[in-house]
Formats: sequence, C-alpha cells, structure tokens
Amino acid sequence: MRPPVPPPRRLPPLPPLPPPLLLLLLLLAVPGGSAYGFRNCIQSPWDPGLFRCVQRFLGSVAGAVDDLPPAATALNLSHNSLHRLPPAAFARLPLLRTLDLAYNRLASIAPGAFAGLGALATLDLSHNRLAGLAEGAFAGLGNLSSLRLDRNPLAGLAPGAFLPLANLRCLSLRGGRLPALGPVALAVRHLPRLQLLDLCGNNLSALGPGPPLPPSLLTLRLCNNSLGGLAGGTPGLLPALRALDLSYNNISEAAPFSQLRLRNLSRLRLAGNPLDVFQLLEVSDVRPRSLDFSGLQLGPGGAAEVCRRLTGPRLRRLRLRRNGIGTLPDGALAACPAVGTLDLSGNRLRRLGCVGRLLGPRQRQELAGLVAEHNLLRRLPSCQAEPALRSLRNVSLRFNRILTVGPRAFAYAPCLRALRLDVNGLARLDRQALWGLRELRELRLDNNLLTDLYPGSFADLGRLRTLNLRNNRVSVLFPGAFAGLARLQTLDLGGNNLRHLAAAALRGLGELRRLYLDRNRLQEVSAEAFRPVQASLGVLDLRANALRYISQRPRQQPPFRHLQRLYDLKLQAQQPYGLRIIPHRFFQGLTALRSLFLAQNWLLAIPADAFDDLAQLRYLTLADSSGGMGDLPAGVFKNLSSLRSLDLENAGLRSLGPEVFGNLSRLERLGLAKNELRTIDQRLDGQLPALRYLDLRKCPLSCACANAWLPDWLGRSRVQVVYLYNYSCGGGGGGGGQPAYLHSFDTRVCFLDVGLYLFAGTAPAVLLLLALPLLHHRAYWRLRYHFYLLRAWANGRWRREERRYAYDSFVSYNSADEGWVLGELVPELERASLRLCLHHRDFSPGRAIIDNIVDSIYNSRKTVCVLSRSYLRSEWCSLEIQLASYRLFDELRDVLVLVFLEAIPDAELSAYHRMRRVLLKRTYLRWPPEPQAQRLFWAKLKRALRSGYAAGEEEEEEEEEEEGCGESGKLPQGGPPPV
Ligand SMILES: *[C@@H]1O[C@H](CO)[C@@H](O)[C@H](O)[C@H]1NC(C)=O
Ligand SMILES: *[C@@H]1O[C@H](CO)[C@@H](O)[C@H](O)[C@H]1NC(C)=O
Ligand SMILES: *[C@@H]1O[C@H](CO)[C@@H](O)[C@H](O)[C@H]1NC(C)=O
Repeated sequence: MRPPVPPPRRLPPLPPLPPPLLLLLLLLAVPGGSAYGFRNCIQSPWDPGLFRCVQRFLGSVAGAVDDLPPAATALNLSHNSLHRLPPAAFARLPLLRTLDLAYNRLASIAPGAFAGLGALATLDLSHNRLAGLAEGAFAGLGNLSSLRLDRNPLAGLAPGAFLPLANLRCLSLRGGRLPALGPVALAVRHLPRLQLLDLCGNNLSALGPGPPLPPSLLTLRLCNNSLGGLAGGTPGLLPALRALDLSYNNISEAAPFSQLRLRNLSRLRLAGNPLDVFQLLEVSDVRPRSLDFSGLQLGPGGAAEVCRRLTGPRLRRLRLRRNGIGTLPDGALAACPAVGTLDLSGNRLRRLGCVGRLLGPRQRQELAGLVAEHNLLRRLPSCQAEPALRSLRNVSLRFNRILTVGPRAFAYAPCLRALRLDVNGLARLDRQALWGLRELRELRLDNNLLTDLYPGSFADLGRLRTLNLRNNRVSVLFPGAFAGLARLQTLDLGGNNLRHLAAAALRGLGELRRLYLDRNRLQEVSAEAFRPVQASLGVLDLRANALRYISQRPRQQPPFRHLQRLYDLKLQAQQPYGLRIIPHRFFQGLTALRSLFLAQNWLLAIPADAFDDLAQLRYLTLADSSGGMGDLPAGVFKNLSSLRSLDLENAGLRSLGPEVFGNLSRLERLGLAKNELRTIDQRLDGQLPALRYLDLRKCPLSCACANAWLPDWLGRSRVQVVYLYNYSCGGGGGGGGQPAYLHSFDTRVCFLDVGLYLFAGTAPAVLLLLALPLLHHRAYWRLRYHFYLLRAWANGRWRREERRYAYDSFVSYNSADEGWVLGELVPELERASLRLCLHHRDFSPGRAIIDNIVDSIYNSRKTVCVLSRSYLRSEWCSLEIQLASYRLFDELRDVLVLVFLEAIPDAELSAYHRMRRVLLKRTYLRWPPEPQAQRLFWAKLKRALRSGYAAGEEEEEEEEEEEGCGESGKLPQGGPPPV
C-alpha cells in the first residue's frame, strides 16, 4: 500500500472571491439599508449581482447608483438620459465587472469618471454623443478588456486617452466620424494586449500617416469607410495581422497592397471595392488563399479563373458571394483545389444541377458544405444516377425560389446531416424527394407553401432529430404522415393551418420530445392525439391556437392526462378571445410539469382544483389574463409546493387574500404588477417564506392602516420590492402638491391610536366638567348625604345594624311656625311618649349644621316636616326635607311625614318643584283648623310615626312623568286634599 498523500505544505493563494462568498456578501449587504428595494434599479432575481436600471429617464448617475449595494458586479444603465459622467461616478461599486452605458446622451466624460473600478472588464459606451475623448477619461480601468464606443460622433481621440487600459483586448469604434487611422494608431499604440480594433463605418480616408499598430493586434476592421487607396500604409503599420476587413471602401489600386506586408494574413475581405481582383492576385504579398472573393465582380468565368490561381492543398472555405454569377456550367469549379465549404450565396444562379457535376474528382471527395443561399434557384432536379459526394454533410439552399424538388434530388449526398430548404416556394414535396437521406439529422422546410404532407415522405429519415415545418400551410395531418421518423425529437408545426389533430396524426413519433403546434387553428385537443408521444414528450407548445372553453364541466377526458413526462406546456394567447375558462381537471395527469404558460387568455374562471396535479410546477404565468376574474379561488395554489416563480401581472386581481396562497413555501418570485390591489394582506408575509422578489408596480396600493405593516416589512425583509420607493399612495398622488409614498407613510397612527387615547383621556374630563355644575345644582346634598353615610358606616357599622333610633321623629319646621310646633305638636306627641328631635333643643353645638341635620334625620325613625309658606321659602327647611327624602330613597322606607299647616295652592308650590316632587309622592296630613277634626289628625300622625309604613287613606303614590310639568299634579286646586 502506498502511504497517504501528505497534505500540501503551503496553501494556495486566496482566490479573488469565490462565487458563494460573493453571493453571501450580497445577501448580507443588501438588506442592510433602511429598506430593500431600489429607486431606479431592479436586482435580477436570477443573479443577485446584476442590477438593471434600464429606461428610467435617469439624468445623473448618482440617482441610480446611490442605493445600490457595493457588492454589485454588473450594472446596466442603458437607455437613459445621462449626459455627463462626473469624476468617480461609480466609486461606490468597486466590484463592478460589467457596465453598460449605451443609449444615453453622454457628451463628455470627466477625467477619473471610472476611478475605483479596477475590476471592470466590460464597458459599453455605444450610442452616446461623445465627440472626443480626453486624457484621463479611462483612468483606473486597469483590468478593462472590452470597450465599445460605437455610434458616437467621435472625431478625435486624445493620444493618451486609452493609456490606462493596459489589459484592453477589444476596442470597437464603429460608426464614428474618425477621419484617419493615424490618430487612432497613436491612441492605441501603448495597448500591449489589443487584439481587435473595429473602425468600420467611420470617415477614414487614409491609412497614414501614423505609428504602427500594436504588435498584438490580430484583427483590424476598416469596412464602410472612405479609403480611396492605401496611401500612407507604411510597411510596419499592420505588423502581425491575421484578419483585415477592407470591404466597402473605395480602393481601386492593387499595387499599394505590396507595401503592407500582408503575408501573415489569413483572411482579407475586399468586397465592395472597385478593384481588379486579377491584378490584385499578381501582387506578391497577397496570398490568394487568404482572400475572400465575395463581392469582387468576378464576372462570368471569373470563378474558374480564380480557381486556377488557388493552387495548393485543400481550402477550408471558398467564398464567392455576391459576384453576380448567373450560371455555373458543368465542371465550372473543377480547376479549384479541394474545398471544405463552398459558398455561392448572393449570386444570380437559376440552376445548380446536381452539385457533383460542378466539381472535379478530388473535390467530390472533400466537399463538406455547400451554401447557395439568396440565389434564384427554381427547381432541384432528380440526381439519382450521380456520383455520390460522401463527405457532404451540410447543404443550405435557403432564400431561393424553389418550387419543386424532384424525386431523389439529394441522392448524390447520401451522408447529408443537415439540409436547409427554408424560405422557398415549395408547395408540394415529392414523396421521393428526400429519398436516401438516411443520415439526415436536421431538415428545415419552414417558410414554404406546403399544404399537404403525404404519408411516406419522410420514410427514409430514420435518424432525423429535428424537422421544421413552421410557417407552411399544412391543414391536415394524414395518419402516418410522420411514419419512419422513429428518432425524431423535435417537430415544429407552428404557424400552419391545422384545425384538428387526429388521433393517429403523431403515430410513429415514439421519441418525440418537443412538439410545436403554436399559431395554428386548433379548436380542441384530445388525449388520444397525444397518446403516441406520451412516453417521451417534454415540451408542448399550443400557444395562439383557437382553444376555448365555455364551461367548467369537462366535455371530454382531460387532454394531457397521458403526458406524464411533459415539463413545459404553453397555452398562452388563444385566439381570438383567449381560453376564457379552464375546465375542471384540465391539467390532470401532468405530474412532471415544471412550466405552465397561461398568459393572455382573458380568463373568466379558474376552478380551485385546476392546478392540483402539478406538484412539480416551478413556473406559472397568468399574466395579462384580466378577463374579469377579479379574484382567484381559495386554495387554487394549494398543491404547488415546488413553485418558484408566479407571474400574475395584469391579471385583473382586485384582492389577494391569504386563502389563495396555500402552500407556496418555495416561491421566490411573485409578479403582481398592474393589478387592482389596494391592500396586501399581512398574512402573506408568513405564507411566502422564500420570497425574494416582489413586483407591485402600478397597483393602486393605498396608504391605509390595512397596509400599515408593509413599510415595516419592506424594511426588514429579504424581499426585493421592485422600485419600492416609487409606489405612491393609491397609485396616484396623495392630495396636495407632494405625492405621498407607500414606503414612508406614517403608520404610527395605526399602531398607537393617538386619537383614541386623546379621546379616552379628555372625554371623561369634559363630561365631568359638564356634570359638575349639574350635580352641584341638583344633587349636592344628596352627595353629601351619601358621603356622610359612608363616613358613618366607616365609623361604626354596628350602629347601622342595630337599627335602634335615638328618636322616633325628627321635626323639621321653620321658625315662623315655632309657635304651633312647640305649642301643639311637641306636647301632643311627647304625651304619647314619642321621642322627638328638635333642632333648637337636640342639635349638638359646635358641629356643622348640615352634619347635625343629617345626624338627626338618620337617628330618627321618621322625619316630620311642618309645611307652610315660610317653610318652603327657607333654605334650611328645603334642605331638611330633601335629605329626608334621600333617606327615603336610600333605605326604601317611608321616613317622611308631611304636615301642611296651611293650604298652599299648586301654582305656588310649583316654584319649589323639588319640594313638589316630594309632595306628589309622599303621604301628607293637613292640619285642620276645625278643633273636632284635630283629634283625628293627631291619631293619624301618631300612627304614622309609630308604623313602619305610610299612614292614612290619603296615601297617594304617583309616578310623575316629567318634572316641572306645571299643573299636571294630582294636588287639588287650592291645596292638598282634606284628610
Ligand atoms: C442592458 O439592457 C439592454 C436593454 O434591455 C440590453 O439590450 C443589453 O444587452 C443589456 N446590457 C448588458 C450588458 O447585458
Ligand atoms: C485586475 O484583476 C486581478 C484579478 O482578476 C486583480 O488581482 C487586480 O488587482 C485587478 N487590477 C486592478 C487594477 O484592480
Ligand atoms: C468625411 O470626410 C470628408 C473629407 O475627408 C468631409 O468632407 C466630410 O464632411 C466628412 N464627413 C463627416 C460626416 O465627418
């Protein structure tokens, strides 16, 4: 056994930053700010380092860059209105590797504008307004390898403009206004790694004078300029060039090419110059084999002439494009060396015949590719008896006018792998046309006029993998049309006229994986039609057909029930009005489906069980489906636990409750833009734990308390909310001048309801203030009485419980009636041994008078009030009667006995209406002036004082409905009723 390998002694140097670490950095860095969302940029949901700030009308870089995390690696600011780049504009993003500033209005770049971007590798400044480039504009871009400055009105370059770009490999200056190569050469001469320099479409009129281009340069493109000649082209100008493109200039002289030392050149393009090729071929330095003969006006017989000069070993490619070649007689190319690919595109060939006849014997063995696109070919003849070109693999005859293909037209190419006949006028395919192409893998017949596919047409194509019949006029697929295509994997029938898919149409396609039937007129699809491909089909494209359902009750078997391997199903944009309704169990059986496209279908209804079988679904779009659905049924997503991306943009949703999202625990991306959503339910937060990207653009979200959780959630969650800072309240402005924004609306009022607290705090005080005067007016004594009772109760409860009274009666009277009281009442009652309490006699001296009154009332079983006019007028007396009546209400005992000394009319009485109320309820006795009645009076009074109950027949109890209602009392006019 070998000893174990010892661990390496030295650790390798640290890699720059491994991708997972970078990702972590990004994830940590991003939510650090106040909220996760960017004013003008969208972080790619697929690549967290990529930020797109495209088409935001940005006028300054700061507006975009300020809120981006420093870990950003790619920034796309194209299609904005930036007009200048200030110094260190991107210094916040030191890890940037790609920066796209195309399609702006940049007119100047300040020196040091890109300072701090040491890691930048790709910079695009095309389609701006830069007229010049100053020194220092690119300072700090030491790692830049690709710089595009296309389509700027560049007329000059400072000699040191590119100096800092020590790593630049690719510089594109297409479509500028540079007048000569010299200044460019001066500017790039210090770039040690430059490999490609593209100056096509400028205004170059001369190559020199100028220093040589850097020796590293391999490709120089000078096409579409105004080079009249090669004047000034010094011998060292183009040192090691491999490819030189001089096409579409005005070069007419061939002789100056000898000065340029083009020996190393392997590709020279001279198309579109008024140049005599044959003269050029005399120039010693130009190697004919490197020349691209396209567009050189070779003329009739020119091809043969060229071939004669191209002696030597096999040519990889011979390009004779755009030379106006009208006919190629048999053997026309026999003089050429062996050629890999022969390109005859863009000529005027009307017939090609059988290709082998053009060639010599050696070429027939070597030819691998034939390209004759953009010619005028009309028919392909039968070539059955021709010698076989066994190495021929690719034939492309696109963009011709081929109407018919003869039987066995490709018999000369038995090993053909790819045949392109697209964009022709084929209306009918001979059953034998493709005879013998047993090795064919790819056949393109798209964009022709084929109406019928005859059974057996493809019988020999047993190895075909891809058959493209798109954009023809096929309306019927006869049973067996595809017989023989046992290995076919991709069948494209898009853009035809199919209305019906017969059960046997796909018979024989046992390995079909992708079937495109989009843009046909299919009105229904049936499970039977897909049965032949059920074991293999993975992609089915049915978009833009005429499928439509009017009821949720299925009329037939679920159409996809056999397609258990299907992972991608496209059903969007059914014509003319969309799918409208999805029947019950429509997607039954699609247990492997991963992507489902249902956009643009004007859906009216989705049954809650629609997606129940799709447990593997990862991507679902219902975008642009606002057919009046309004809401999604509860539980419609309940089984989609694998879903990662859900696009509900412009789906007409008015609400989105938590009951809709059943189990979307892996959902990362949710598009809800352009819906009528006003509120987002807080419970969604807990239901979508994996969410990372949320698009709520153009939803009229209101700044109401129902959304109060949003700002806070946005602030702490890991979800990027697209353009978070641009959502204004209610989708529009928030009244007044300044619009209010969702992210910043003041939610405190929702959480601690200041208004409620203020109300709760002040209302009792206000009520108390309102009540106090009232209480004081109406219940002052009552309150005092109760207060007293409370005190008394606190002082000694036992007294209350014993219920033993010190007096039988407290006598309340006015001093004006003292004569009657002391002369008549007291002797009479004390004779009956009733203990009486009289204020002048029994009040404790030194106590408050009110306490004395209350004490007396309380310590007496009854209170006798002696009523007279003066009594009524007296404050103290009315107080006494009042306190006694409170005791009455308090103890529910009849303690009050009223004695009228004189008749008091009702009108007079009503002035004291508190008194009147008592009178109306209480028993009263009237002191009769007649002596004989006085005996009865005393008897009644004594009985009243002894009993616990009211005395006398005069007892009248009556509820008074309204206090102070004048004459409505029961008191008889002129006084209380006689006893
Ligand atoms: C930036 O966005 C534009 C517009 O979508 C796109 O065409 C361009 O390719 C993007 N640039 C980069 C570097 O991806
Ligand atoms: C260029 O990139 C390399 C590694 O890719 C790095 O070490 C170097 O510091 C970079 N140059 C600058 C100027 O940042
Ligand atoms: C191109 O250069 C010619 C002179 O060489 C000049 O007359 C013409 O205005 C230039 N065109 C542009 C667009 O700069």
